[in-house]
Order: sequence, then structure tokens, then C-alpha cells
Amino acid sequence: MTRDEIRDWLKTGDESRLEELWLRADEVRRRNVGDEVHLRGLLEISNCCVRSCRYCGLRVENSEVGRYRMTEEEIMACAHQAVAFGYGTVVLQAGEDYGISRDWMAGVIRRIKGETPLAVTLSLGERSDEEFAAWRDAGADRYLLRFETSNRVLYDAIHPPLPGRHSDRFALFHTLKELGFEIGSGIMIGIPGQTYDDLAADIEIFQILDFDMIGVGPFIPHPATPLGRAEGAPITLAGEQVPNSEAMTYRVMALTRMVCPRANIPATSALATLNLAQGRELGLMRGGNVLMPNLTPQQYRAQYEIYPAKACIDETAHQCRSCMAGRINAIGRTVGSGRGDSPRRKRAA
Ligand code: 5AD
Ligand code: FES
Repeated sequence: MTRDEIRDWLKTGDESRLEELWLRADEVRRRNVGDEVHLRGLLEISNCCVRSCRYCGLRVENSEVGRYRMTEEEIMACAHQAVAFGYGTVVLQAGEDYGISRDWMAGVIRRIKGETPLAVTLSLGERSDEEFAAWRDAGADRYLLRFETSNRVLYDAIHPPLPGRHSDRFALFHTLKELGFEIGSGIMIGIPGQTYDDLAADIEIFQILDFDMIGVGPFIPHPATPLGRAEGAPITLAGEQVPNSEAMTYRVMALTRMVCPRANIPATSALATLNLAQGRELGLMRGGNVLMPNLTPQQYRAQYEIYPAKACIDETAHQCRSCMAGRINAIGRTVGSGRGDSPRRKRAA
């Protein structure tokens, strides 16, 4: 699909054409990755962060949030719970937290790999090549890092760099790929300042970089952040602003499935936050094949507030497990078995 075609789909107001898009995306999903929905247990191991991303509630400037970092024993207990729930993967996510040292993290990864059959996905921000290499060596399988937007001017406007450091996530994907990680990436939809051209370019990049996993979700304003205070776009808007809506999220998911037929595509928590009743189901029916049930212990959930009113804040890991399975079965799909490795790689192997 060309960028112009992608932009046309993003902008069409024709409901019958959209129905056609949903059907086509669902058919491409079924043919390429089947009816299984893979469950990845999401464990938010620390909400400490040194960065100042202008949309995120965990930014260092936000003193309203109580900070926590899980212990190794707490993480191990959750990993064993993931196995008991039948999950094939545990995703260890945190802010960019240098209290998570290279060696401590490597030790935790080694223990999970030694004591469980789980695939380990890391989502720990922009860390050094040495850290990535040590974690891969310890057995980590996948790394998640969204590029958020491919518009460099917008990217820079919402991601103040650390002093002396230049943020180049595309360079990091190259390093991660060389190290043998499966790579997940993605974007936010409706960032203030993001145009339809930007979004079409993002989807084109999904196709070019051929990620193993692609997660997209709506931007949700957080009142304790600069972008959440309705100050308008952080750059001069160079076209029509993309809405941060549920409807736009489905369009992006469906188009992502069309251009990356074998990618793993989650129906994200941000989407579920906009439509608690049906967001996950509709995401799975419009291109998605992955869900990420929350595994984080109850006492920490509310503190991992990257955006407000996040889905599942009041539920336990056990409730999320049953809820997800129920939703999958209700739409005639099946819970995936095994680790749910990248279908892209299975074919390449
Ligand atoms: N709204 C929606 N998504 C957000 N993220 C961070 N802050 C927000 C927000 N306010 C997303 C980013 C990040 C992922 C972990 O969460 O895309 O990569
Ligand atoms: Fe957590 Fe539904 S997935 S309550």
C-alpha cells in the first residue's frame, strides 16, 4: 500500500468502506496468524523514570506519583503466576530507571529463564548497547520500544533528551536486531501536532522495518503532564490534526495488519481505556491477535499511571486472566498455546 492509499483510508468518512477495511484486515489476520490470541503477562516492575516525555505520567517532573521498584522475589513470584495462568510470555516493563542496573536485570532474566519456560520481553526504555547485550546474553527474547511518531520535529518536541544524549530509536532497533532480539515497536495516535501525513508515514515505516510486534494506542491526556494540559500542539501543525479516538485506533490497527500481515498486533490497554466494554474485542476483530493482561501486583497498579483511568487498575492478575479468556472465547477465537513467537520468524526459519 502506498502512503497516499494509507492516508485515504485514515481519512475516509465512508462507513461502508470502513466495514470493508475491517473485513479485509480480519481476513488477512486469520489467514496469516490464525485464530489464536496470544497472552503476554504485563509486569510493570518499576515506575521510576529519569525522562521528561511530555505526555507520560511517569515523567521525572511528576512529583504526585509515588514511586516503586519491585524486588527480585516479587518479580519471580509473578513470573511463576504467569506460568500458572498459562501465559507464554512475561513482559517486564518500567520507566527509564537506572536503579535497574545491567547486572541486577540480567540476574532476574537468568532466573526467569532457568525456572520457567516463559519467553521474556523487556520494555525498559533507551538503554546502552552493553545493557542490551547483557540482557540478551542472559536469555531475554524480545524488546519493546515504540518510536511513538516518525515525525522527527514532533518527536523532539515531546521527548526532551537527557543531557549529552541524542535519542535515536531507529539506531537502537538496528542494535537490538543485531543482538537477535525480536523487536516490538509502535506509536501513539492523536499526539497533539500529529497530522494524517505523519500517521500514514508511521504505518509505512511499520511495513519497511518489518517489526515482529506492533502496538498502537490512542494518546490519552494526563493532567500532570504538559501535553495533558490542553496547551495545544507543541509544534506548528503542518496539516490536519489526527484525533486521539477509538475509531482512529481501529483504522490504524487494521491498516497495520494489511501492511504487516504476519506481525503480532496487540489490542492495547489504552484502547481498552477508551472503550472498557468492547475495545479489546473490536481490536481483535480489526487486525489484532495479542492481548496483554496485567500481572502487576495490586498494590502497585495505580502507581503505574502513564495515563489516567487506565483499564484494569482495580482488578487482580487473576481477574484479568479470566476476563481476557472470556473476551477471547466470546468472539469465537482461542487462547494461544506456547510462547507465541513471531510468526514472521517462524516462516523465515
Ligand atoms: N497516552 C497514551 N499512551 C501513552 N504512553 C505513554 N504515555 C501515554 C499517554 N499519555 C505509551 C507510550 C509508551 C507506552 C509504554 O505507553 O507509547 O511507549
Ligand atoms: Fe483486566 Fe479485563 S483484562 S479486568
